[in-house]
Amino acid sequence: MLPEVIATRYVTPLREGGSLPGIVEADDLGTYVMKFTGAGQGRKTLVAEVVCGQLARRLGLRVPELVRMWLDPVIGRGEPDEEVQELLKASGGLNLGMDYLPGSLGFDPLAYRVDAAEAGRVVWFDALVSNVDRSWRNPNMLVWHGDLWLIDHGATLIWHHNWRSAAAAAEKPYDASDHALAPFGPDLATAAAELAPQVTEKLVADCVADVPDEWLEGEPGFEGPDEVRAAYTEVLAARARTVHELITIGTPSADRPSQAPGWLTGKDGDAQ
Ligand SMILES: Nc1ncnc2c1ncn2[C@@H]1O[C@H](COP(=O)(O)OP(=O)(O)OP(=O)(O)O)[C@@H](O)[C@H]1O
Ligand SMILES: [Mg+2]
Repeated sequence: MLPEVIATRYVTPLREGGSLPGIVEADDLGTYVMKFTGAGQGRKTLVAEVVCGQLARRLGLRVPELVRMWLDPVIGRGEPDEEVQELLKASGGLNLGMDYLPGSLGFDPLAYRVDAAEAGRVVWFDALVSNVDRSWRNPNMLVWHGDLWLIDHGATLIWHHNWRSAAAAAEKPYDASDHALAPFGPDLATAAAELAPQVTEKLVADCVADVPDEWLEGEPGFEGPDEVRAAYTEVLAARARTVHELITIGTPSADRPSQAPGWLTGKDGDAQ
């Protein structure tokens, strides 16, 4: 089980995040980024954060520590922003906390070099979990004490929004053309040889076990939380075996002429 803490003070919202995560202090004297169950994105984004965060860490990638975080909305009483007030009110009880990395910088490909081996491990992992949210537009990586850290796995495991499609998800291609690390020549063959054998059913099951029951209960089509956990485990362990062959890295979309509207480029028929 993830360690458990109680939120003691709401410090400030992180406005860059679409789900409006907040910086929060807790009773263990730690500072955390809190992701709220009451956010519009729903509890599945928190499930994805736990499954992927735990899995990435077990594979040797850097991800801030995760905790179960209890919230009494009363701690937001002094917060003037109504949107934040509403979010806190809707999120009483169990939420997700992520160790706050103070002074970290958003990943910038012009300021930070990633070697081909590390780029390969990250892209391979993102392909495994079908992460569509680590593009050059929104890298969701931080640089802290000179190292690369992965954050924001809420937009992964997209197949869990439609379990009927989940079996087929194991074989879905992954286009990494827009991945923030694509320009670093990811060594996918080495990453696959190193990581794929580690993603056993046992390892995935250990990671999925850390998802709180509260976020798995009542899932349509399942008897209970453990049956949902088994479904996550099955898809991920199956995908790990073949995902290497499903990754393509082409030209990033920024270079595609269709990105610029016709009125700007002066080209006919290129108006969208
Ligand atoms: N553990 C952390 N330590 C320091 N800063 C963080 C941490 N986690 C997130 N941040 C900062 O907060 C921002 C928003 O976090 P995150 O991307 O997880 O939120 P989100 O709501 O899921 O965002 P998105 O809009 O990308 O879906 C990050 O871009 C980063 O600047
Ligand atoms: Mg983000």
